[in-house]
Formats: sequence, C-alpha cells, structure tokens
Amino acid sequence: MGLKFDHSDTNPDVIVIGAGAAGLFAAIETARRGRKTLVLDHAKKPAEKIRISGGGRCNFTNVETEPKRFLSENPHFAKSALARYTPWDFMDRMAAHGLTWHEKTLGQLFCDQKSGAVIQFLLDDLAAAGGELHLQTPVKAITKPDDRFNVSTEHGDLTCASLIIATGGLSIPKIGATGFGYDIARQFGHDIIETRPALVPFTLSGDLKDQFAALSGVSTPVSMRAKAGPAFTEGLLLTHRGVSGPAALQVSSYWCPGEAIDVDFSPETSLKDRLDEARRDESRLPVQEWLSRFLPNRLAEMFVKDLDLEGQRLANLSNAVSDEFISHLTHYELRPVGTEGYRTAEVTVGGVNTDGLSSKTMESKHCLGLYFIGEVVDVTGWLGGYNFQWAWASAWAAGQVA
Ligand code: FDA
Repeated sequence: MGLKFDHSDTNPDVIVIGAGAAGLFAAIETARRGRKTLVLDHAKKPAEKIRISGGGRCNFTNVETEPKRFLSENPHFAKSALARYTPWDFMDRMAAHGLTWHEKTLGQLFCDQKSGAVIQFLLDDLAAAGGELHLQTPVKAITKPDDRFNVSTEHGDLTCASLIIATGGLSIPKIGATGFGYDIARQFGHDIIETRPALVPFTLSGDLKDQFAALSGVSTPVSMRAKAGPAFTEGLLLTHRGVSGPAALQVSSYWCPGEAIDVDFSPETSLKDRLDEARRDESRLPVQEWLSRFLPNRLAEMFVKDLDLEGQRLANLSNAVSDEFISHLTHYELRPVGTEGYRTAEVTVGGVNTDGLSSKTMESKHCLGLYFIGEVVDVTGWLGGYNFQWAWASAWAAGQVA
C-alpha cells in the first residue's frame, strides 16, 4: 500500500511518477546525487513491462543501437542521450549485480537470470541510493503555484522541486498503462504527436483472413516493408487473426491504415534465378514440390492455389506465368484491415513532442523542473531491446540534472 504523506518533512527534492524502466533508473541517478527522491506509481507492482518483456527474459538492450533505429518526428532528438548512455554502460550495471546475458539475433541482449532479476537490481540500487518507492499511489492533480510542484495523491499532498514524468505509453492498459503523462504534458503547454499502437500484430479480413487462419502457426523468413519505412528481414508468423512475428511487428510501427505492405517471401535467394534453373534442369518437377524447397509446405500449397497452378509441372509454366508467379511471391501485396491495437502492442508511437524538450536533459522548455523520459516521449525504438535502451538513456540524461 502507499504510505500516507502527512508530514511536511516528507517533501522530497524529486518526484518521479511511474516506476517502470525509465522512472526507476532516473530515480536511482537523482538519489545517488544526494537528491531526496520519491517514486510514485498507481500499480501494485513496479516495472510490470520489464517483467513481461522478451518472453520473460527482458531483451534489455541492443548492441546495434543507433539513432536511425528509432522513430520520432525529430529523428535527431534521441542522438545526444543515446550517445551519452550506451548499451555498454547498462551492461556494466548488470554485471555489477552479477547478472549475465546472451545475444540472440540482430544484436539483441537477453538477461540469463530472467526479467525479475533486472527489476530486483533496479529496486536494490534505488534503495541503496536512499530513494523511496510508493506503489498504489494514484496522482490526482499536479500544479505549480510557485517554484515547486504540488503533487496531490490519494495518500496526501507533496511538493517537489523537480518532477519527472515516466508514465510510459498506452500499450497494455491491463497492466496499468494510462495517458496520464500526455495530460500533464498538455497541462504545461506541450503538444502531443498523435499516438498509435506499434510493434503490434496485423489483422486481416474476408477470404485472406480465412486463408491465413487455416495456416495459423506457420512461420517463414520474409522481407517486408510499409510505404514509409525500411525493409525488415525477419520471421513472419501466420495467425488466426492475421500476421505477427518480428517482421510484421517491426513494419507495424511504420504502417498507416489502408496501406498495402510489400512482402518478399524469398528474402535470401533470387527465386527467379532458382526457377529458371529448375525449369531448365528439372522441368518434370511439380511446381508445389519445387516451391516447398523454399517455403513451408502449407504456404507453398496456398501460393500454388492462388495462381491456379495446382498439379502443374515446371515445364507447363510459360514465361509470362512464371514471371507472374515470381512477382506474386516476391512482391506479395498484403493489405491488413488494422492491428490488434493497444491491447497487445509492445509500444506506442508518438507522444510528447520533442520540440518542447531539451535533448540533453529531457527538461521541459515550457516549465523549469519538469522532465519527460522513456516511452511517454515521441521516441520509439524498433523491436529488439531499443525501447529499453531509450528508457535507460533518457532516464540517465534527466537523472544527472533533475
Ligand atoms: P513503462 O510503461 O515501463 O512504465 C510506466 C509506469 O508508469 C508503469 O509502472 C505504470 O504503472 C505507471 N503509470 C502509468 N500511468 C500512471 C499514473 N496515472 N499514475 C501513476 N503511475 C502511472 N522493450 C525492449 O526494449 N525489449 C523488450 O524485450 C520489450 N518487450 C516488451 C514486451 C511487451 C509485452 C511489452 C508491452 C513491451 C515490451 N517492450 C520491450 C517495450 C518496453 O517495455 C517499454 O518501451 C518500456 O517499458 C518503457 O518504459 P517506461 O518506463 O517509459 O514506461
């Protein structure tokens, strides 16, 4: 339970709202500087998103971190914080607590001791630095009548000189996500870049949905891209509702409703060269059997049906049909009807407009002493540990000055 705040001597120097990755990390830094620091969260437990991250093993950073792997209206904003607090800095902190890790793919580092150990190291560091954590403490209102903030909570009122908002984005409301940080930002004169769910599975409708649902559980490497984004070469997973898997999640961050997504089902080899070769050397081979060399059987069957090539042999393909076949497989036009939304999204694109924040300290340009860090800010990382790296780096930047 949250404590009652009923003595004026409980007033801290710094209040951090949100005990997630960014909030806890910033609080450790301010407390280490000797600033009396209090972290408030309305949830029963701290850092629930760390707990569920990376399939329970917390993909806590990515060694390939660079600004171009983050989305923001201002692509330069994240550069300073990311340069000053790197994946190796966080690895040092993990190592100091005896935690170890392994790299899975694409620079993604996962904790060997599971997510709970990362949360515990943050809580231990916070306690060792003298910071306090108050859970189940909803904040009712914030005002700034003078040079201090008044933070009115359900357990009493507090004042502080520095206020750090680390309440995250809108994804997974079931575990405590709220739009509180955006409301406070607006109250103090900040714009919010329109938010949308990202790193989220796509949904399909009609015949395509039925066709994919029948293949639910099938996965295959692809290269896919939305109009505005880069191509991602990773796994695609067919689901009952549409498509998921890392490639789809990455693309969802760049996708706009109504758009088609370009999918290449043969990202590693030139299917056209392979088909030309096979038409020459193995012309009696059934088309489906040939395609099953590159794709899961059931997916190969679906594509062969799509183009009415069931039972056909390679020798039967005219040049025009073989071109159409290759184009269907390498520029497959996938048109989702939507996404699964904030219910399952890993992150929220958009948030507090970086125009109103210092890129060095995360401090508000509209209100001295007010800071926004982590996912509430309009900086969103790719899948693969980038979002935690942004949480650590932005928290560290604010933690040196707040
Ligand atoms: P975060 O959301 O972690 O914390 C916000 C805190 O504020 C919460 O404790 C919440 O209760 C509190 N809060 C909200 N509203 C409040 C209010 N009104 N009053 C008081 N408190 C309030 N990233 C990554 O890099 N690697 C990974 O492996 C994963 N995996 C992953 C899996 C899943 C299922 C999800 C949903 C997300 C991920 N992510 C991830 C993304 C990552 O978890 C996310 O970007 C960070 O947790 C953001 O950290 P923040 O501290 O900014 O917000």
